[in-house]
Amino acid sequence: MENELMSIKNNAVSLILDARSEKELEELKLQFLGKNGTLTMALKELTKIPIEKRPEVGKLANEVKQIIEEAIENSSANFKTKKIEKIKKIDVTEPGIRPPLGHLHPVTQAIEEIISIFERIGFTRVRYPEIEWDFYAFEALNFPENHPARDDWETFFIEQQPDPKKGPVLLTPHTSSGQIREMEKGKLPIKMLNIAKTYRRQSDVSHTPMFHQFETLVIDKAENISITHLKGVLDYFVKSYFGPDRVSRIRPYHFQFTEPSFETDVSCGVCDGKGCKLCKEGWLELGGAGMVHPNVITNCGLNPEKYAGFASGWGVERVLTMKEGIEIDDIRLLYSNKLEFLEQF
Ligand code: FA5
Repeated sequence: MENELMSIKNNAVSLILDARSEKELEELKLQFLGKNGTLTMALKELTKIPIEKRPEVGKLANEVKQIIEEAIENSSANFKTKKIEKIKKIDVTEPGIRPPLGHLHPVTQAIEEIISIFERIGFTRVRYPEIEWDFYAFEALNFPENHPARDDWETFFIEQQPDPKKGPVLLTPHTSSGQIREMEKGKLPIKMLNIAKTYRRQSDVSHTPMFHQFETLVIDKAENISITHLKGVLDYFVKSYFGPDRVSRIRPYHFQFTEPSFETDVSCGVCDGKGCKLCKEGWLELGGAGMVHPNVITNCGLNPEKYAGFASGWGVERVLTMKEGIEIDDIRLLYSNKLEFLEQF
């Protein structure tokens, strides 16, 4: 019996010292001293020991009870003073701690600005899948079967059984796939702004494997649409995004899905188009554009004799890094997650 009482005491005291809250102390009090507590139950056994030993064991039992009660009281007092100290330490006149405030990623900021610029002239923002069928990314866009972009050293293919009609599954390498999805809907006229993530197997100072493009597509009755509309939209974008002093130009190029096709340039903001270290000849390249190829219009179930349009596809990261006052010598920094870099925007 004496041994049992000593072991109850040791166990109780060690648990009381480890308790981390008053609630835990309350629970321990019940566990040892409550109606069905360990010590209470042990005391009930006192009647079973020989009568001559009872006073001695009874005394020990009382001492154990006292020790447990005192340990609980001391710990409880400790918690209370800690609480008071905590309360005392609050100085309401102290300036608060300002929580760190983040902001949108520069690419998201650029996307929002681009959307608001195009919405002002009646374009509607749409989103089409990043994981796409070859049909939308290449086939319907008039790409020949052996075009290098369809090779898997430039495009990310997904290991999945090709669809008998739509071909292999891939990560879309450009937003032009959205042209087909938009025209397929058959709702005319079209004034689409497709902004999406795009993917290519490229990584250097001016290329990232994941980047964003923004694509315009305008389709209307053939007599309503000409290259001048394309040039007008380009000029409007350049002046709205880069500033009123900047000018744009188009120069002949080749894309499978536009005819004629152009590269579009914006005058350099550093040298005002005179030529400098950054631009060399006064112009910075913005991206591609052109009049939608009649084959593409046909592939989408429309009559190219009746309907015509123009499209453009530019890189969000590219226009962001070309914006006056923002000098980024490695485009990959945008995705490095370095706070000291991102906090500057
Ligand atoms: C195209 O992707 C065409 N689909 C654009 C187009 C649309 C032409 C409609 C005609 C009509 P290109 O491959 O040149 O074209 O890419 C367009 C822009 O995307 C580039 O000028 C560049 O700004 C950006 N870009 C391309 N690859 C990357 C990359 N790996 N990292 C960052 N930006 C890129």
